[in-house]
Parts: sequence; structure tokens; C-alpha cells
Amino acid sequence: MDVKSLIRSIPNYPKPGIIFRDITTLWQDARGFRRAVDELVWPYAGDRIDKVVGIEARGFILGGAVAHQLSVGFVPVRKKGKLPWQTEQQEYELEYGTDVMEIHQDAIVAGENVLIVDDLLATGGTAEAAVKLIRRMAGEIVGAAFIVELPALGGRERLDTLGIRVRSLCQFE
Ligand code: PRP
Ligand code: HPA
Repeated sequence: MDVKSLIRSIPNYPKPGIIFRDITTLWQDARGFRRAVDELVWPYAGDRIDKVVGIEARGFILGGAVAHQLSVGFVPVRKKGKLPWQTEQQEYELEYGTDVMEIHQDAIVAGENVLIVDDLLATGGTAEAAVKLIRRMAGEIVGAAFIVELPALGGRERLDTLGIRVRSLCQFE
């Protein structure tokens, strides 16, 4: 059973010319969801990981499952205004304009080893914001793991320049 084959492609969503890779069809398949989490986790078997950071919103679904599988804590990186306590903030680029991501100031202790998890890597702008937030708290980033990568959008290269090792389960051109 192949993870990629469970991802649905929707032409012209959210606008003409875009093919949207819809991962809900993978989540809703019990064996597919299990396989995706297992495949994401096994390469880190030899690494010490203290926390998984998941990025809102789809990164929460995957990141929670990955953290549980690794028996480590889960930390949400959220869009501005959603976290109730003191936060670090980082601006990032959207297709049109910018937004701000936040993390709780006590979510990561200096020196902790952190794995970043999200469903999809496109330009890498969202993941870069998570990298900057974690580094501001002196977290050590073990890697960034995604189910889907869109290589044409350059996210891997962008994270590579930040010294972040990327893993993805499948790519769509
Ligand atoms: C999507 C996806 C990643 C991000 C990838 O999230 O889940 O977080 O875009 O894009 P990038 O690599 O170009 O930054 P989106 O911003 O649509 O938010 P959502 O998960 O809340 O729908
Ligand atoms: N699918 C889901 N999220 C996305 C995509 C996509 O194809 N492109 C950018 N974010």
C-alpha cells in the first residue's frame, strides 16, 4: 500500500491552474494514516528527539500522531492570536502579503532536540518561520518531515540553506 496513491489531486482548486494535493483521503484511511506516520518516524529511530513541533493546521494532525509514536511532547506553532500565553512571533510570506506565526515562550527549553512536522512543503516559507522560532528559543532542529513535497517550489533548497535536513514521503511535480 502506497501513501502517494491515497492522496487525492483536485484540479483548479483553490483557483484555476492549481492542482491541490488533498491529504484528507490519506488521513481517513486507517492503514494509510498508520503507514504515513510509521514511514515518517522510522528514519529518526537513532536520533534523540525531545519535542515535535507541528505547524497549524494540518501539521497538528500529523505532528500529534508523530509525537505520540515517538513518546515525546508536542508543541504547536500557531497563526497569530491563537495562543493564550506569552509568545515569540515570526513573520512569514504568503502568496499575497505576510502573516505571523507564534510559539509559546516556554514550549522549548534551550538545547532540546526538535523535529518539525507538517503535511506539505511548498515554498518552505512556513517551515522557515518555525525554524526561526525554534532557534530563537535555542532549540536544536533534528530535521523537518513532510508527507508531500512540491519540489518545483523550492522548499527543500530554502531549508537546506538554513541547515535543515528535509524528509518527505512523496513528491508531486
Ligand atoms: C499549507 C501547508 C503548509 C504550508 C506550506 O498550510 O499545510 O503549512 O501551506 O506552504 P509553504 O511551504 O509555501 O509555506 P496553509 O497555510 O494552507 O494553512 P492550513 O494548514 O491552516 O490550511
Ligand atoms: N495541497 C495542500 N496544501 C498546499 C498545496 C497543495 O497542493 N499547495 C500549497 N499548499
